[in-house]
Amino acid sequence: MRRIVLGVGVMAVAALAGSGLRPVAAGVDPAKPEFYTESVKPILVAHCAMCHLGANHRGGLSLDTKAAMMKGGRDGAVIVAGDPAKSMLLTLIRHEGPADNPKPMPPNEKLSDADIATVTQWIQAGAAMPDDPATP
Ligand code: HEC
Repeated sequence: MRRIVLGVGVMAVAALAGSGLRPVAAGVDPAKPEFYTESVKPILVAHCAMCHLGANHRGGLSLDTKAAMMKGGRDGAVIVAGDPAKSMLLTLIRHEGPADNPKPMPPNEKLSDADIATVTQWIQAGAAMPDDPATP
C-alpha cells in the first residue's frame, strides 16, 4: 500500500517539476513525519536525486533512507535534528558553506527561498521522517 502511494507521489513530483510547481502540504505540522513525505522529500527528489538517490551517493551521501540520511556523508552527519545551525546540509543548500569540498548544494543551482525555508523548518522541528521499512 505504502509503495503504491509513494509511486504516485513520485510521478506527481516528476510532472510538477517541469512546471516549476511542487505540492504544498498546507497545515502539516513540521514535527510530523508526513511533513517530510509531503513537503521535504519532493524537494530532495527534484533537486538532489541525480547525485544522492538510488545508485548515486556522491560525497558518500545517500538520501534514500532515514538511516542513510542520519548517517550522513564522507564528512559525517549532515543533519542535526533540532539544530539548523549545526546541520551541514542546510549550510550547503544556503550556499553559505565552503566554495569547495564540499561545495554548495546543489552544485549548479540554488533552491528557492521557500524550499530552503521548508527544509530548515523540518530540521528545526526535529527532522522527523517515516521509519525505514524493515530490511529482510
Ligand atoms: C550534480 C550532482 C549533485 C547534486 C544535484 C547534489 N549534490 Fe550534494 N554532493 C555532490 C558531490 C559531488 C558531493 C561531494 C562533495 C563535493 O564534491 O563538493 C556532494 C556532497 C554533499 C553533501 C556533503 C556530504 C559530506 O559528508 O561531505 C551534502 C550534505 C549534500 N551533498 C547535499 C545535497 C543536497 C541536499 C542536494 C539537493 C538539494 C544535493 N546535495 C544535490 C553532488 C551533488
